[in-house]
Amino acid sequence: MKRILTYGTFDLLHHGHIEILRRAKALGDYLVVAVSSDEFNAIKNKKAYHNYETRKKMLEAVRYVDLVIPENTWEQKRNDVLEYKIDTVVMGSDWEGDKNFECLRDICEVVYLPRTEGISTTKIKKDLGLQEPVNGVDQIPNN
Ligand code: CTP
Repeated sequence: MKRILTYGTFDLLHHGHIEILRRAKALGDYLVVAVSSDEFNAIKNKKAYHNYETRKKMLEAVRYVDLVIPENTWEQKRNDVLEYKIDTVVMGSDWEGDKNFECLRDICEVVYLPRTEGISTTKIKKDLGLQEPVNGVDQIPNN
């Protein structure tokens, strides 16, 4: 049984998310997804449209996902790998070489998969005019 772990916010679930989950699962037999909690997003200065419970439920409904756990801190990754007996941590290529994942190489394999082009939560928010105000000034939706 090969166990895979990936991290992310997975807000406004889109086909780029589904693709990384599909390819992550294909690398093993059991996929754990660690989803940023609302508190952790606040630390990162991010605010998800859907709260943690909703993002968790949506991920649990995806056929590739076996278990959803919260991501509450930057430091929990080593513990997650050991606790869930993870063989491989998978992230999108935007995280390639990031020290938060590179430092796990002594306890598991770390794999970066190419991102799906042309889609992101940020793009969806921008296209729908849902972008967070920057410095208190609302952004004008791009048509
Ligand atoms: N991801 C991907 N392809 C995309 C978008 C995301 O492979 N087009 C991957 C990311 O690399 C990450 C995971 O999906 O491993 C979760 O990413 P997340 O940051 O939640 O999604 P984004 O759409 O990138 O969100 P944002 O625009 O807020 O950064």
